[in-house]
Amino acid sequence: MRRTHLNIALFAGIVVTVAMTVSMRRDPTRPNYMFLPEMVYSVAYDAFAPNPVFADGQTLQAPVPGTIARGALPLRYAATPEDALRAGEELANPFALPAGDDADDESRHNLERGDQVYRSFCIPCHGPTGNGDGPVALRGYPPPPSLLAEHAVHMKDGQMFHVLTYGQGNMASYAAQVSPEDRWNAVLHVRAMQQRAAARSNEEAQP
Ligand code: HEC
Repeated sequence: MRRTHLNIALFAGIVVTVAMTVSMRRDPTRPNYMFLPEMVYSVAYDAFAPNPVFADGQTLQAPVPGTIARGALPLRYAATPEDALRAGEELANPFALPAGDDADDESRHNLERGDQVYRSFCIPCHGPTGNGDGPVALRGYPPPPSLLAEHAVHMKDGQMFHVLTYGQGNMASYAAQVSPEDRWNAVLHVRAMQQRAAARSNEEAQP
């Protein structure tokens, strides 16, 4: 008698367990119940959400006028040819071309970096050797003057930096894409191309 009772109880237990397992199976198309969801949904405003706290109704606030990003030195030049010449007089390249075989690693690194910058940002118009035959120029963009010509050879480093920073004529500013250090590195690369071209034409002049 006792055994029968026990079996009935066990059977009932199994039925309840199976029934609960089936009925409580979670629906994969719906999210689970969340316990203390406050930590999941932050009370902070999203950057681009409207915001009643600020006078202009926006969460993201513009920096205070005159704010300077850490490490960024302000350049006090305008995008004019006069200021390009002034930059040529006032600014000097903080980096130097590697001098001969015993050049230090830093100047080699800067020149390599300048080569990379040139290949990424300048080749499309100025071409691989700098004479203005990049693919963009060959397909209708006003071709730039050769970087190996007199004008660019005599242009001071600071003025070239100004051209990269503010643009010149049909060339746009590269300040947003290329950091100030990389602009100076690119100037180094232009100087290296000019030196190679000068060495080539010397060889041709006196074979
Ligand atoms: C979209 C094409 C284009 C790209 C990309 C470009 N340039 Fe230029 N660049 C020009 C044109 C066009 C001029 C001539 C602008 C003028 O004076 O009208 C020019 C002028 C220059 C000059 C002045 C040359 C002179 O004799 O007056 C320098 C230096 C120069 N570019 C360097 C660079 C460097 C370095 C880069 C890469 C960071 C670069 N450019 C990227 C089109 C370009």
